[in-house]
Amino acid sequence: MRSGPGAFAVYSARSVEFLNTMKVRTSAKPLSTNPNLLKWVAKIAALTKPAAIHWVDGSQEENDALCAQMVEAGTFIKLNEKLWPGCYYARSDANDVARVEDRTFICSLSKDNAGPTNNWVDPFQMRKKLKGLFAGCMAGRTMYVLPFSMGPLGSPISQLGVEITDSPYVVVNMRIMARIGLPVFKEIDKDEKRVVPCVHSVGAPLAPGAKDVSWPCNKEKYIVHFPETREIWSYGSGYGGNALLGKKCFALRIASNMARDEGWMAEHMLILGVEDPKGEKTYVAAAFPSACGKTNFAMLIPPAPLRDKGWKIWTVGDDIAWIKPDASGRLHAINPEAGFFGVAPGTSDKTNPNAMVSLAKNSIFTNVALTPEGGVWWEGMTDKPPAECIDWQGNKWTPAIAKETGAKAAHPNSRFTAPASQCPTIDPDWEKPEGVPISAIIFGGRRATTMPLVYQAFNWSAGVYTGATMGSEMTAAAAGTVGKVRRDPFAMLPFCGYHMGDYFRHWIMMQKTLSETPRIFHVNWFRKDAAGKFIWPGFGDNMRVLKWIVDRARGRALGKETPIGWQPRFDDIDWTGCDFSREQFDALQVVDRTAWRAEVMGHEELFLDLHDHLPKEMIYERELLICRL
Ligand code: GTP
Ligand code: SPV
Ligand code: MN
Repeated sequence: MRSGPGAFAVYSARSVEFLNTMKVRTSAKPLSTNPNLLKWVAKIAALTKPAAIHWVDGSQEENDALCAQMVEAGTFIKLNEKLWPGCYYARSDANDVARVEDRTFICSLSKDNAGPTNNWVDPFQMRKKLKGLFAGCMAGRTMYVLPFSMGPLGSPISQLGVEITDSPYVVVNMRIMARIGLPVFKEIDKDEKRVVPCVHSVGAPLAPGAKDVSWPCNKEKYIVHFPETREIWSYGSGYGGNALLGKKCFALRIASNMARDEGWMAEHMLILGVEDPKGEKTYVAAAFPSACGKTNFAMLIPPAPLRDKGWKIWTVGDDIAWIKPDASGRLHAINPEAGFFGVAPGTSDKTNPNAMVSLAKNSIFTNVALTPEGGVWWEGMTDKPPAECIDWQGNKWTPAIAKETGAKAAHPNSRFTAPASQCPTIDPDWEKPEGVPISAIIFGGRRATTMPLVYQAFNWSAGVYTGATMGSEMTAAAAGTVGKVRRDPFAMLPFCGYHMGDYFRHWIMMQKTLSETPRIFHVNWFRKDAAGKFIWPGFGDNMRVLKWIVDRARGRALGKETPIGWQPRFDDIDWTGCDFSREQFDALQVVDRTAWRAEVMGHEELFLDLHDHLPKEMIYERELLICRL
C-alpha cells in the first residue's frame, strides 16, 4: 500500500501501544497486516478513544449480529420476516434527514482550487478544528474499521477505501452499497494500491453508564474533504451521503479530483443499456440532479408495445459512473457502487417495479412509515394508503390525520438501501472489470418551464455547454428551499471536489483523448401545463424519448434543427400504445425565445461566478446560442 501524504500518514509508536491495550474482542484482532493501515487505525483510536475496535470482515454472521445489536439498541426494527425477509427499518433524528450542503467543505490548499461553488476552509485550520471535534468523540462506542472497494474488486477502474466509523448503521448500509470486508483487506495487504482514508463519527460520545439514543448524531455537522491528500472526515451525521463515505464523498468529491489528475471522469450519472429489436446493446449514461429520476430511469420498463417489438432496458448503475477511455479511445463506464440508496416516496409497482423487486428483501428502510403488520409504506407506494401506520417520526399516522395536518407518513427524502444484484434488470455485464462502452450522455433537470422534453446538442462542446448550464428545481435530497431553480452544472454542484470552471475545462479536454465521442442530449420529464400538471407521463414512457436518443446515437433517426439543438419531430417518436397528441407534443417541445433569453441570463450569472476559470469554449457556445435565438 502507498502511504503518501494523507494516506494513513505519520504515526507515533505510542499509538500502536495504545492499540494493544484496547479491550480485546474476537473482532478486535486486526484483519490486516498492512503496517500503514495498522498505524493509522491506532492513531484514530488514540484520538477518538472508542471503547472497542471491530475489524469488519463483511460476513453474513457479522451482519446479523450487528443488526441484532441495533434492534436491541432501538436503532433498527426488524420487519415482518414473511413480508419483508431480511429487512430492517430505521428512523433517524428529525434533524438528520438529508445531505447538508452548507456543512460540506472542500479544504484544498488554495481557496481558488475549491472555487466559488464550494465551501472552503483553510486545511490547517480545518485539521485543528477536526482534531478538537474528534478528540474522544467515540467514547463508549465501538469503532468499526470498514474496508471497501468502489467498483468490482480488481477492476482497473475501481478504487479502495477504509472507513473508520462509530456507527453500526453505516457498516450494514455500506455492506449493501459497496464491496466490503476480508477480500478488500486482502487487496490492501497485497498491493501497493492507493487507499482513501475516511473517518466518520456521529459525534455523540457516551458517558459511562449513559443510555444511548436510537439515532445518535450531533447538531454540529462537518463533511470535510482534503482533495490533495485524498482524505475524508465526516462528523455529526449518520444519514446517507453524509455518512456512507464511499458514495458522494469518495466516489464523487474525491474521485473527481483523481479523475481530473488522471484523465478520467467521476460523474453523478446512472448507467443503462438499451437492447434494440436486433439484440444490439447501446449504453447510455445520464446526469440528473438528486431526486430527479436517475433510479427510475435506470430501471425503466418500456411500454408493452415497445417491449413486444424487442426493446429492453438493462441496469448498470443508478447514481454514480466512473468513466475512462479504453486503449482504443472509447469511453467505458463502471458503477462504483453495489447497491441502490434510492428515494422511497413515489416508488411503486406502477412507477418502478424493478426497484420494488430489488428492495423486497435484504434491504434497509430509513424514514419511511411502519405498518401495523411490520411492513413499510410511503407516499405513492400504493393508491390506497394503509388505514393506519406510524410515521417517520414515530407518531400515529392515518389518512384522516394527513388530510387535516398535511403530515407525511414518510419523509420526502426517506430511502431504501437495496442490493443491486437483486434488480431483475441488472445488466449481465454490470460488474465487468473494464466497464461498458458509453455511446450517449444525457443531461436533465426538474424544470416546470422553458426546457423542452428532449433535444440533442450540436456537438461535444455544445454538449458541455448544455451540461454546464443545467438548472433544476431544488428537492428534498438536500437541506434547503425545495422548488427553487438553481444552476446545477452536470448535476455536480454539490459533488464536484474542485473548481467548477476547471471541471468544465476537464470535460472539454476529455474529447481530445477520445477516438469516438458520445452524443450529448438534454431531457426534461417535469415540464408543467398552466394548471401545474406534468405534461409528460414520464417513467416507462421515457422509453420513447430514449429510443430516439439511441437511434440518433447510432445514426438511424432524423430530427430537426432548432436554436438549441436537434429535436425529434412528432413523427420521429414511436407512439404505439400512447395517445399523446401532436399539439401536446408541440407544447412540450416548444423553444420559447423569451423564456430562453431569461434562461441565458441565468447561464451568465453562473459564468460570472466562474469567470476566471471558465474555458473560452463556454463563452463561444453562449454567443452562438444567443445568435441563434
Ligand atoms: P438521488 O438518489 O437523490 O440521486 O435521486 P434520483 O435521481 O435517483 O431520483 P429518483 O429516480 O429516485 O426519483 C426521484 C423522484 O422523482 C421520485 O419521487 C420519482 O417518483 C420522481 N420521478 C422519477 N422519474 C419521473 C418521471 O419520469 N416523471 C415524473 N413526473 N416523476 C418522476
Ligand atoms: C443524492 O442526494 O444525490 C443521493 C442521496 O443519491 S445521498 O447518498 O444522501 O447523497
Ligand atoms: Mn444521487
